[in-house]
Amino acid sequence: MQYFEIVGGSRLKGSIDISGAKNAALPIMAASILVEGETVLRNVPDLADVRQMQVLLGKLGVKSERDESGAMHLRVEDEMNCHAEYEIVSKMRASVCVMGPLFAKRRRAQVSMPGGCAIGDRPINMHVRGLEALGADSDLVNGDVLLKAKKIKGADIFLGGPFGSSVTATANVVMGATLAEGRTVIESAACEPEIVDLANFLNACGARIVGQGTPQITIDGVESLKGTEHSVIPDRIEAGTFMIAAAITNGDLELAGARIEHMRAIVDRLRHIGVIVERSEKGVTVASSRRLEAVEITTQPYPGFPTDLQAQAMALLCLADGNSVITEKIFPDRFLHVAELNRMGAQLRKEGPTVIVQGVKRLIGAPVMASDLRASAALVLAGLIAKGTTRINRIYHIDRGYEKIEEKLSGAGANIKRLSE
Ligand code: EPZ
Repeated sequence: MQYFEIVGGSRLKGSIDISGAKNAALPIMAASILVEGETVLRNVPDLADVRQMQVLLGKLGVKSERDESGAMHLRVEDEMNCHAEYEIVSKMRASVCVMGPLFAKRRRAQVSMPGGCAIGDRPINMHVRGLEALGADSDLVNGDVLLKAKKIKGADIFLGGPFGSSVTATANVVMGATLAEGRTVIESAACEPEIVDLANFLNACGARIVGQGTPQITIDGVESLKGTEHSVIPDRIEAGTFMIAAAITNGDLELAGARIEHMRAIVDRLRHIGVIVERSEKGVTVASSRRLEAVEITTQPYPGFPTDLQAQAMALLCLADGNSVITEKIFPDRFLHVAELNRMGAQLRKEGPTVIVQGVKRLIGAPVMASDLRASAALVLAGLIAKGTTRINRIYHIDRGYEKIEEKLSGAGANIKRLSE
């Protein structure tokens, strides 16, 4: 079993290249189910989740391979199998993104219900409701959602839920509507940059989508879509994670390729904490003064503060002067990192969907356990500044969403090693 060993105290300096966005690459890979001919995707990150999506697509008749430049070539070779099985979906929630394309192109989709995970329940009722509005007959068979349709007709669809919009439900309904007869208008759509990137990819394939990036997206169905070349946007969550790494180590980092326009809520909070964040010609520079101010953070759908950076921000605020308040409005149970950070000397108190962060002078290295992908990244950040050595177990969680994180951090001066026992 691999683990990270981190000796805290190094200030991060220099430049880190930001990889392509996992949460854009995964739905766009799934969208290759919709197109005739070859799709070529550039800037697809080399992650466990991406490899998992390739396995799933392979089972669904989509061949995918990377060429020597790293570009991923995808092509539909067989449309028989439409079943995304439990053992893949239970490992990677993003598998659900094949539901819309299978339904739209093959008029049939059988996708396992994802079940719960480290950050809480992962229902897909909004996905099903949206595709039913397009004409799907749905059924639940042995834990799988089965969707079928003779005809797919455009519709007006409200996609709001108890926690606001849904990113992958929006992706599924947009993909589901691309080949429908007539117009679909989605109200309360997710506005994430990853949805914009997916829509831009689909339009390059011949789809007719407008409004992406706003709560109202309109899709006029077309006959067919043709494969195209597309470069995936940079990963704003990876970039935000490394911005916090610079801040927590009182460092001075350039994040090459980061797009500050995708990160306004993060930049706003970091500046209130006292971190200097500036646009540079290669991306974004982050420098930190010794003193960190306590702030209030509430996670919201984009453009609000992303839930995927909540744990990382909490690690930083453990060292701020005074008490910070962090409220999680998207996944109210997404606090597995609290107990682990407390093992490192943090003073965190959970009150329902809120955590009170009482600033401390220092964190102390300790053996800790990774859980969800982003909570694990938060433990890496804490280890970078903690006094002594931190050992992080179960780092396969991190490999799902961060490309070579220990190489990127070591390259900027961190003392972090990947070891096996
Ligand atoms: C996407 O997950 C991301 N994953 C998540 O990133 C991210 O945390 C999340 O959006 C929120 O930004 C991908 O894009 C692959 P949601 P998704 O549907 O689409 C509830 C990471 O670390 N909901 O926007 O699954 C849901 O329970 C991952 O990269 C329903 O109630 O999230 C949650 O409370 C983790 N019914 C809220 O909506 C539904 O049918 C938002 O979930 C769907 C969702």
